[in-house]
This record gives sequence, C-alpha cells and structure tokens, in this order.
Amino acid sequence: MSAHDDPPEPGLEPQEQARRRFLLLVGSGALGAAGLGLAAATLRFIEPNVLFEEERRFAVGRPEDVPVGTVLVLVRQRVFVVREPRGFYALSAVCTHLGCITRYEAERRGFFCPCHGSRYSLGGAVTAGPAPQSLVRLQLTIEREQLVVDAGKLALPDSLLEMPA
Ligand code: FES
Repeated sequence: MSAHDDPPEPGLEPQEQARRRFLLLVGSGALGAAGLGLAAATLRFIEPNVLFEEERRFAVGRPEDVPVGTVLVLVRQRVFVVREPRGFYALSAVCTHLGCITRYEAERRGFFCPCHGSRYSLGGAVTAGPAPQSLVRLQLTIEREQLVVDAGKLALPDSLLEMPA
C-alpha cells in the first residue's frame, strides 16, 4: 500500500494531505539514499586495503655473465647495476632533485636527468644541475649464484659488492 492509497485523513484539507504525502515521499527517498551510502561505505571498509606494488626484490643475472664496464639499465625497476673492476653496485635511477627517472649516457659514462638537466657520475655523484645529492645506492647481494637487487633497501653511499674481475 503506497502513500497514494492511504485513505484521506478526516479533518484535513486536500492541499494539506497532498503536502503530507509529498513530505513522506521526500523523507523515504532521503532515507533510502542514506541507506545506500551507508552500504557503499561498509563495503569499501571491508574490502582489503592492499596496495599491489611491483616486486622490489629481483634477480638480474649471474655475475660472471656481466663483463667489467657494463651498466645494466633495468628500466621497469628504475635501477642501474654497474660492474666495475672491483665488483658491483646498484643505483636507483630516481633523480634526487624532483624524482624524474634518469638515463644512462654511455658516451659520457654517467647518468642524465631530462627534467632539469642534472648529471651524475657513474658512481652516482652529482656533477651538474640542481640535484642536491647522489643517486641512492641500493642493496645488492648474491643469492643462488644470482645478483639480487633489493630496491626497498638502501645501501651505504660507497657500498660495493666486491668480486674479482
Ligand atoms: S628532477 Fe632531475 S633534475 Fe630535476
């Protein structure tokens, strides 16, 4: 039975009855909308709040397969792995100025940020531009004969995974 089917209340003008029916309808609509909002908020609350991040720990290959002088450019992971005569180190490719992604420049043996022109040496030290500090070194280990970078763990600025050439 809807509000339209209600028998007219005795003693009320038809205009007053119409006004009451209208207010009843508006009130029901508002309650329904509030109920839907509450249900949506509850669903959002019980949904797992998980951030699916890309794997931050990854293998980059066997050390003996990387000749001295090589710079591995891991674009997707935003990491460089450098092989120098004494061993390996890993650098974050994220510019320390405002976070753009730097590029390896083979001809200059260094890294360049296209955003504001910062340059870094092969070791990650700032050589030009507004960058306030060196590229960050990342933890690099050997596991199961593979070089493994942990982009979630910082290493000391001059850390090196020592390895004979
Ligand atoms: S973000 Fe790299 S120089 Fe500004």
